[in-house]
Amino acid sequence: MEKFYITTAIYYVNDTPHIGSVSETIATDVIARYKRLDGFDVFFSTGTDEHSQKIENRAKSESIEPQEFVDRLSGIWKGVFDQFKISYDRFIRTSDRDHVLAVQDFFQKLYDKGDIYPGVYEGWYCIRDETFLKDSELVDGHCPHCGGEVQEIQEDNYFFRLSKYRDELLKFYEENPEFLRPESRYNEILNVLRSGLQDISVSRKSFKFGIPAPFDSSHTVYVWFDALINYLTSVGFLSNEERFNHYWPADLHVIGKDITRFHGIIWPAMLLSYGLPLPKQIFAHGFWNLEGAKMSKSLGNVVNPVDFVREFSKLSGISEEFSVDVLRYYLSREVTFGLDGDFRMETFFSRYNSDLANDYGNLINRTLTMLEKYNNLIIPQKGGDSTEVINFVNEKKEEYKRRMNEYAFSVALDSVFQIISYFNNYIQVKQPWKLPRGSGELNEVLWNLLEGIRISTVLLMPFMPAVTEVVLKELAAYPADFRDLEWGKLKGGLSIQKIPPLFPRLEKTEVKAEEKESFVKYEDFARMDFRIAKVVKAEKVPKSEKLIKIDLLVGEEERTIVAGIGEFYTPEELTGRKILIIANLEPRKIMGITSHGMLLAASNEENLSILVPERDIEEGSKVS
Ligand code: MSP
Repeated sequence: MEKFYITTAIYYVNDTPHIGSVSETIATDVIARYKRLDGFDVFFSTGTDEHSQKIENRAKSESIEPQEFVDRLSGIWKGVFDQFKISYDRFIRTSDRDHVLAVQDFFQKLYDKGDIYPGVYEGWYCIRDETFLKDSELVDGHCPHCGGEVQEIQEDNYFFRLSKYRDELLKFYEENPEFLRPESRYNEILNVLRSGLQDISVSRKSFKFGIPAPFDSSHTVYVWFDALINYLTSVGFLSNEERFNHYWPADLHVIGKDITRFHGIIWPAMLLSYGLPLPKQIFAHGFWNLEGAKMSKSLGNVVNPVDFVREFSKLSGISEEFSVDVLRYYLSREVTFGLDGDFRMETFFSRYNSDLANDYGNLINRTLTMLEKYNNLIIPQKGGDSTEVINFVNEKKEEYKRRMNEYAFSVALDSVFQIISYFNNYIQVKQPWKLPRGSGELNEVLWNLLEGIRISTVLLMPFMPAVTEVVLKELAAYPADFRDLEWGKLKGGLSIQKIPPLFPRLEKTEVKAEEKESFVKYEDFARMDFRIAKVVKAEKVPKSEKLIKIDLLVGEEERTIVAGIGEFYTPEELTGRKILIIANLEPRKIMGITSHGMLLAASNEENLSILVPERDIEEGSKVS
């Protein structure tokens, strides 16, 4: 089995997690789960970065020992990751004993070979970012990265001979353009390397909460030097040789763009100096902003993911466990992984309503309702030749895999939702309510729908572990992995229980349509389900001049719409007529009546005319 070792950055514990930091852990978890489902032997490491001056200061302000402080905070981080179903194999803490020993060995070895040497550091230090800064780097006397205050320091420090590795690193980068992704980050580091490297300070003398330098206990190891080594410790460096040799080098470090230089330059140079192989790839993702503004603890505009999930669960009525999945889904869907994203309530609600409630949830609900009505909730036996359906699903599955292998989650999810839309549309096209009960044709349609749900659900597993488990159990198809993606694996003949709707629609979202480009994509147009409908009954909505409630027949399906045409048509004029409607528009409540669709009409300032078929044609017919 091929191995895959994947890591997140490790998180500072000066505060609790926010949506931005959790987004990185979720993205990494999505990849880890995907790789496991795809048959890899995955090791997934995440954890907390605990030694630092800011922690020492925080603990002092609470009059407790730093270790007590980090124990509490690290516990909170781990708890949040567990709630978010982060499937880590190790949650590493830099205060773990094996890590302390690993760092000391590493530091000693580099000192022994002359790559760490004593010197004097004169310059600035940003405590919040734990970064040494030159005079020329400051912006208005503040840290150029976080805008925080900087301290002027003059200290005896130990230095790492980073400059020695510049040529080797530059050559490595030139020969390995895939080493750092996305390309913009690769180019950034290439430019830094081309302009030359200076040695860096790698110890501090003025505070105690850190790992003592093994050869000079008056110094602690610089927190970044200490933290980067976590990637080795986690898989058994110096403590479990077999495991270490199996998993190292890491296949993928997932980090944020702000720490690219530490990972893209300092970390490989440290490994070259020690004589260890370099990681295979680094992916530096973008940052999540909040409603257009930079998310920052110091600005006080962060979203606490635990509170968010609790509130969303109350609002939607779905469990907190499912709400976690909705958030995982949103973070993966809303942004191109690698670019910055904007966390907005409006888009969060519309993703929930359109993708999860209307498309995925609705497909499951409609299918189970029909299975109950037409087959007593018994999964039929597979039958019939559905080559077209199978070809479509297979094509989308391949597309999904290609996209996932490039960590392009958003478009990979798009491939899955194309399968889901395909089957929603399949219901409209096949009109199972018109097929004779017990017929082979009806069985084939029902079976295909259930198989489509099963396969799209397996594809959603990396993103929504809790929801997909429930759906697959419903179909007696859990546990599952990607070997189960083969069409035809759903077992027929089983009697199942009907689960309640997974994602009830949120009525009061006050969601404004997002501004879109002026062209509609062909796929978007194809998703609109226009139909011929017959007006069975029409009546004025009480207390309204304009609104008419219209009961329709669309094929055999009965539905009600509310139309604002009362100034131009009387209910009597409408009754018995055939009209055009859009059938898959999201339902809306208008004056207390839920409107399932909308009729089509042409209008200008003075006049309005409903659209009707030019020749008589059966209600339910598709318009395209
Ligand atoms: N402790 C260092 C990393 C050491 S790794 C050897 C650190 N910690 S951090 O807590 O500040 O950030 C941890 C990760 O979270 C980083 O990769 C960072 O980019 C990411 N994020 C922090 N805020 C974020 C957003 N608003 N959006 C996306 N990722 C964010 O740096």
